[in-house]
Amino acid sequence: MFKDKKVLTGVKPTGTPHLGNYLGAIKPAIKLGQQALEADGKHYMFIADYHAINAEKDPAVLNRKLQEIACIYLAAGLDPSRSVFYRQSDIAEIPEITTILYAYTPKGFMNKAHAYKAAVDKNREAGKPDDDGINMGLYTYPTLMAADILAYDTDIVPVGKDQVQHVEIARDIAGAINAHYNRPLLTLPEYSIDNNVALVPGIDGRKMSKSYGNVIPLFEDDKAIKKAVYSIKTDCRPMEEPKNPDEILVYEIYKSIATPAQLQEMGDGLREGKLGYGHIKNMLLDAVIAEVKEMREKYNYYMAHYEEVEAMLEEGAAKARPTAQATLKRLKDAVFGR
Ligand code: TRP
Repeated sequence: MFKDKKVLTGVKPTGTPHLGNYLGAIKPAIKLGQQALEADGKHYMFIADYHAINAEKDPAVLNRKLQEIACIYLAAGLDPSRSVFYRQSDIAEIPEITTILYAYTPKGFMNKAHAYKAAVDKNREAGKPDDDGINMGLYTYPTLMAADILAYDTDIVPVGKDQVQHVEIARDIAGAINAHYNRPLLTLPEYSIDNNVALVPGIDGRKMSKSYGNVIPLFEDDKAIKKAVYSIKTDCRPMEEPKNPDEILVYEIYKSIATPAQLQEMGDGLREGKLGYGHIKNMLLDAVIAEVKEMREKYNYYMAHYEEVEAMLEEGAAKARPTAQATLKRLKDAVFGR
């Protein structure tokens, strides 16, 4: 699937991730990049800091989030000597390309883009004017994202369901430009959705999300992880009562982290009434700590030596830039008839 393909992923610096973010997004994104590299493809991974300023206006907070996200990806195994790892705002060509794309972006696309529509819906619910608090950055978000994708001749954009529409917009804009100039100036990107990605429930059974306060933390100490795992909802059936594992939240969460053999062991123990809630919580706790231990150490190292990360990001930008420059030149030559 990735043979000779260029795969690109952007991440917004949105604050400290939890186990659900890690298992559901970060880990699979890194794995996909490795698959692309192994298939002689290319992997681009960038931090979408221009996208972040639409919502976050405090530079200190933004900077902290940016540092965290960079360190997390490195700690989780992104190899910047193989993947091109950079910051969006280090590539000055991106906003220039965006400006050219605007001329080919129907305003109706933006009206329909779901990030904008969601903000309008929220305003309506609150009885506010439709566009209250909505800036042009949010409104035109998909065109900037199209520039992120098209600048590097991206073939494949791995996304969650919520981002499919944005990749389609990028494809439509590229198609319109190619059709207008009657030559393949831009590569048409495709999205790919990974259906195997874990959807991790939180400790109350709803989707794990910071806004629900039901997360298992990643980068806190063992005590904090233990506290969260021990708070996972259970009922008061006794251990001896045989249980259907699929009805048990601890088992549901374990699914996203355990090996098949480990999962089998917990499932059998529950079915046979040989494992109680205390046991299975400890099994989950051990698995979570085993998964995060090394990553947490690396993360702490990078946060404490951020100048090393900064250097990696600058190197990444130097690798990314020539392709963006070439795309910008192709576009300028075409639109200005040079
Ligand atoms: N919009 C993406 C998100 O919210 C982040 C993003 C920005 C992105 N530009 C991108 C993702 C380009 C893929 C490709 O998660």
